[in-house]
Amino acid sequence: MITKLVTIGSEQDLQKLEEAAKIMKDGGLVAFPTETVYGLGGDALQSDAAQKIYAAKGRPSDNPLIVHISRIEDLSKIAKNIPNEAYSLAEHFWPGPLTMIFDKRSCVPDSTTGGMDTVAVRMPSHPVALELIRRSGGFIAAPSANTSGRPSPTKASHVEEDLNGKIPMIVDGGSVGIGLESTIIDFTAPIPTILRPGFLTVEDFEPIIGEVRIDPGIIASDSKVKPKAPGMKYRHYAPGGALTIVRGNRKRVAEYIKTKAFEHGDSKKVCVLCLKCNENYYAHMEHLVLGNDMQEIAANLFSVLRICDDKKADIIYSEAIEETGLGRAIMNRLKKAAGGQIVDV
Ligand code: TXA
Ligand code: MG
Repeated sequence: MITKLVTIGSEQDLQKLEEAAKIMKDGGLVAFPTETVYGLGGDALQSDAAQKIYAAKGRPSDNPLIVHISRIEDLSKIAKNIPNEAYSLAEHFWPGPLTMIFDKRSCVPDSTTGGMDTVAVRMPSHPVALELIRRSGGFIAAPSANTSGRPSPTKASHVEEDLNGKIPMIVDGGSVGIGLESTIIDFTAPIPTILRPGFLTVEDFEPIIGEVRIDPGIIASDSKVKPKAPGMKYRHYAPGGALTIVRGNRKRVAEYIKTKAFEHGDSKKVCVLCLKCNENYYAHMEHLVLGNDMQEIAANLFSVLRICDDKKADIIYSEAIEETGLGRAIMNRLKKAAGGQIVDV
């Protein structure tokens, strides 16, 4: 299959989405930008489209997809038992990086929800995503547009790396703003529960809806408790090299990493991921800068993990990030990429 690349750089270019919309109405797939990561879209109400998504990504078909909408009125067409708290969050954060889980209506095929009787719904804020959903019938299933297990794509070139030749079209809308997938909150639980940390945090939600829980299955990656979002149980975002997170005082972290790199000698290619402010500790080593602050680190993380692969790094050490606010989502992704491998020094 030849993959067509369509670039959207201005409002006028949105006209170019007509062809993309037709592909999805006919049951085909289109990758497109959202404000979090690029998504691989297909009509959420056509069960064949979901099958195609699982095949293109190489994703287990018991891992449900998020349904993307462009208008709040469409929520109750696919979901039921929607509590008022959910509408309050929608009012504050939609369109935006928030996914909410509800009981599903029967129009949503089982293949879209991986056989679950609940459905995850999000209204993205990226203008290209919104326009495309609107033109394509209003209900677009879209997981991140990466091969299953690889870091999520934050630019169109990442999507091309993974899916070129496997899907008919990629819409290029430039680099995404946030860089980590949406926060998922489950409204089918007695107390609303965060199943995947993201840009929006407990601190954003609690002033609006009161108590919010965090799924125990995601707090510690070494925990024996199974996460409730099926996708959170897999090793994910993983670069080809073996990644270890090193946590502690930054000087001791640098000493540990340098000692380890020395032990590996020339037999292994070692790469370090560090904060901008700690770069001088690693001046004489192969290193990649994650960023200065949390937002920058979130935006760069997946791209940096892909660069580790481009560099064919065998061994990767990353500084740990402080687990507050957005740092919780960053560390969640980093821990999954590391397969839970953390050293405290
Ligand atoms: O930011 C995002 O959410 C991006 C963009 C493209 O919108 N999408 C995304 O989709 O990250 P995906 O498929 O890569 O991740 C969806 C996650 C998976 O962990 C899946 O298991 C969980 O959501 N999920 C989906 N439906 C669910 C449900 N009904 N119950 C529990 N977890 C669900
Ligand atoms: Mg994903």
